[in-house]
This record gives sequence, structure tokens and C-alpha cells, in this order.
Amino acid sequence: MKHLRSLFDLNVDEYHDILDLADSIKRKLGQGHRPDVLKNRNLALLFEKASLRTRVSFEAGMIQLGGAAIYLTNDVGWRERETISDFVRVLAGYCDFVVCRAISQSTVDELASHNVLPVINGLTDQSHPCQAMADMMTMREFSGGSLRGKQLTFVGDGNNVARSLLKSAAICGMRFRLVGPTKYHVEKPLIDRIRSHFGQLDFEQGTDIGAMVRDADFLYTDVWTSMGQEAEAKARTADFSPYQINSTMMKMAPGHAKVLHCLPARRGLEITDDVIDSESSIVFPQAANRMHLQKSLLVWLGMQNGFVKSSQLD
Ligand code: CP
Ligand code: NVA
Repeated sequence: MKHLRSLFDLNVDEYHDILDLADSIKRKLGQGHRPDVLKNRNLALLFEKASLRTRVSFEAGMIQLGGAAIYLTNDVGWRERETISDFVRVLAGYCDFVVCRAISQSTVDELASHNVLPVINGLTDQSHPCQAMADMMTMREFSGGSLRGKQLTFVGDGNNVARSLLKSAAICGMRFRLVGPTKYHVEKPLIDRIRSHFGQLDFEQGTDIGAMVRDADFLYTDVWTSMGQEAEAKARTADFSPYQINSTMMKMAPGHAKVLHCLPARRGLEITDDVIDSESSIVFPQAANRMHLQKSLLVWLGMQNGFVKSSQLD
């Protein structure tokens, strides 16, 4: 059974197929075309952490595809009332897919290990694949179609979002630069694994803002304190304070550089109002593309798992 536990579940061709299908679904939606490819299908959204974008974009996407979504939080009692193994086997009797936003990547991996329904990672401590794929779709749109050789500079924490972007940059042939305090850099075993899995990766990380930003086509940031790290917030705010995307940093970047943020933003910390609300910012088209990309992912997983035919998209 095909899952999206992380981007390591995809090869380069599969990744591009999902991006291309997302472009097509978005274009057709703009022409009023809403094929009910997932009619009578159900998506369970199993969330251990808060969400606006991931939850609503999946729910809205399922409705547009003719199906429905069921939002489940801890009150369904998984883990406390019954094992994940029992839980997921029951869920598969009612639903066709599950998106899981989990505190730990191991939860998503365990759900998928039973192979009873396709499991999609909706963010874990380690990764946020749907976010990164939608971001590649957005950057491709703002690059006139190709990302090869473009530079994405991530400013801040080598966190779940940065890690999925790093894999995506490898897949899409982008240069990836990460600038932030050394203790928050991405660890070497992950970099090595990305290189060997995807066969290429142009990546450097460091602390020199000018050097990392000066050739950026895209600048990206995320919160300095992710969900679950609240106890470290004070130390993180101090550590990351030199790495705010503000007008001074923007002057170091090329004039054409666009700014992304996965949102939610802590305005005044990792990014200032004048930058996030500027002409350079593409954060709202970026957020909107989550839905188109995830519709594509659902349809693609339906095809891979044998319950959707490509002809249904016509
Ligand atoms: N970017 C993102 O995943 O947002 P949510 O946490 O609101 O889903
Ligand atoms: N790194 C952030 C992303 C939120 C979408 C977090 O994990 O909280």
C-alpha cells in the first residue's frame, strides 16, 4: 500500500507527477471544473496538534472532489482507550484515507505499518511533506515553470518544515541554503540520506546571513518555536533574534527575491509586518496552494492504491 509517511516514500518522478497533477487540478478549478473523483470517499483527519491550513485545506479539497472529511482529535481516545493498531484497523472499516498530524513521526509510521488504509503525514516533529510539496508548486508558479538551479534560502530553525523543504529541493534540483544558529542546523545523517535517496543535493548551512541570502531567489522562514517546544521559547527567541527576515535582510537579497512562510507567523519575531505584507511576499498564494496540492495527492494515492482511475479526472 502506498502512503506518504514522509517524502522518502516518493521517488523523483512520483513527486513531479503529483506537482503536475496539482497544477492541472488548480487550472481546471479556475475554469469551473470540479470532477467528483472521490465521490462517496471519506478522509479521516486525526490531529494531535492545532491546525488551520492543513485541516481546512484537506476538508475543502475533499468536498471539491465529491467526498467528505471527518475531523478527529484526542477525544476519540486513541492510545488511551485502545492501541493504535486496533484504532487504525477500525478506522479503515469506515474511511478511505487518514491524514495524521502527530507529535511524533513514529505515530505516523505505526499507523502506516498496518497497511489498512493510505496514511498521509499532516506534520510531525520530523517533517511536513504536504507543506513542502505545496511550496514547490508555489515557487514553480513564481519561477515561470522550472525550479532547477534556483536558490531557496531558509532563515531560522532546521525544523520539520526545513527538513521537508530540503528533500524537496533535492528532488527539484534547487540550491538550498539554511542560515541560523549552528545548534539548530540539520544533522549530517539526514543530509547523507537525502543525497543517497534522491541522488543529488546542493546544500550548505551556516551562520553568515549576507553570504546565504545574497543569491536567493526565494527566502523562507518559519516560527522559531514549533508546536511542542514552548518550554524552550525564551532561549530560542534569544538564539534566533539575529535571523529575523526584516527590511535590512531584504536589502541583502536580490530585488526579485520572493518571501515564503508556511504560517502561522509570529509577526515581529521571525518576520516583520513590513516584509510579510510587502510585494515580495507570496505567503497567501502559498497557503492557498495547500489545497490544490493535497487534492492532487489524494487523487494520486487513490490511483496508486487502485480505487481511482485517471480517466475519472477528464
Ligand atoms: N502551515 C500549516 O501547516 O498550517 P497549520 O498548522 O495551520 O495547518
Ligand atoms: N514548525 C512549525 C510548523 C507549523 C505549520 C510547527 O511544527 O509548529
